Amino acid sequence: MTSRYGGYEEREFVAGYYDTAYDARRQDVDFFVEYSRQAGGRTLELGCGTGRVLIPTAIAGYEVTGLDLSHYMLQQCREKLSRQPEDVRQRIRLIEENMTDFDTAEQYSLVTTPFRSFQHLITLEEQKACLNCTNHHLVPGGLLILDLFHPYPPRLVPDPRYMDEIEDLPETALPDGRRLRRTSRTVAFHREQQYNDIEIIYYIIHPDGRQERLVQAFPFRYFFRYEVEHLLELYGFRIVDLFGNYDRSPLSNDSPEMIFVAEKTGRGQEP
Ligand SMILES: C[S@@+](CC[C@H](N)C(=O)[O-])C[C@H]1O[C@@H](n2cnc3c(N)ncnc32)[C@H](O)[C@@H]1O
Repeated sequence: MTSRYGGYEEREFVAGYYDTAYDARRQDVDFFVEYSRQAGGRTLELGCGTGRVLIPTAIAGYEVTGLDLSHYMLQQCREKLSRQPEDVRQRIRLIEENMTDFDTAEQYSLVTTPFRSFQHLITLEEQKACLNCTNHHLVPGGLLILDLFHPYPPRLVPDPRYMDEIEDLPETALPDGRRLRRTSRTVAFHREQQYNDIEIIYYIIHPDGRQERLVQAFPFRYFFRYEVEHLLELYGFRIVDLFGNYDRSPLSNDSPEMIFVAEKTGRGQEP
């Protein structure tokens, strides 16, 4: 069964294996930490998860609030934080809320959405509500970084290459001696609503050879460039940069990512 918001708040196992799956593979942490440095004020990360980006930001010396809907993801984050020195812990505030409707009672110079958390908002109403809330939490001239994937057309139609399970993580040791392997596949296409139903499949291999199969199933929205440009403008933002990857290369035909850096220019609209 597909879950809203990635299933992170419904399926505990997802949080438990998240860092094993992504820690070493994502190349985005320095990009976000550098923006926190440049912004020079407090950062808000929407969908902070296990703190994969949040904790390095605080270790680098910057104050950061992490907001996430998933109790399990935040639990992992708290557990990792408990192993950090007091000064790092002091720089982090965690909030369990929906990014479509939040009030942290703080203002930020930077709001980020690392690793596509905004793509868990399937409907236009949710996206607008999130941008409006974000606008209200930014200081004038503050920045929003919207981190999305750059849609690759063969993945948006029923192409058998992506409907069968594709290896996503080769067999990898877990700290307790078990092993994890992951595959992913697209199970349904909703082109008229611009989202796909995705499954990430976790194979847990126990020391006695027993194997478990667990499924994280969720809808995932894709965005096209000019749609995002219009949406940002409507909600009081001006795009100052558009990157195709975390090395800050410009968006091009083959770019894997679509990273908007937008400055707050006005109040936007009420949803
Ligand atoms: C792919 S993870 C990214 C986590 C983290 N930003 C990172 O880069 O590792 C997406 C996160 O967004 C969170 N999320 C999804 N929908 C959300 C919503 N509506 N409000 C708050 N968090 C949400 C999930 O719980 C999950 O932790």
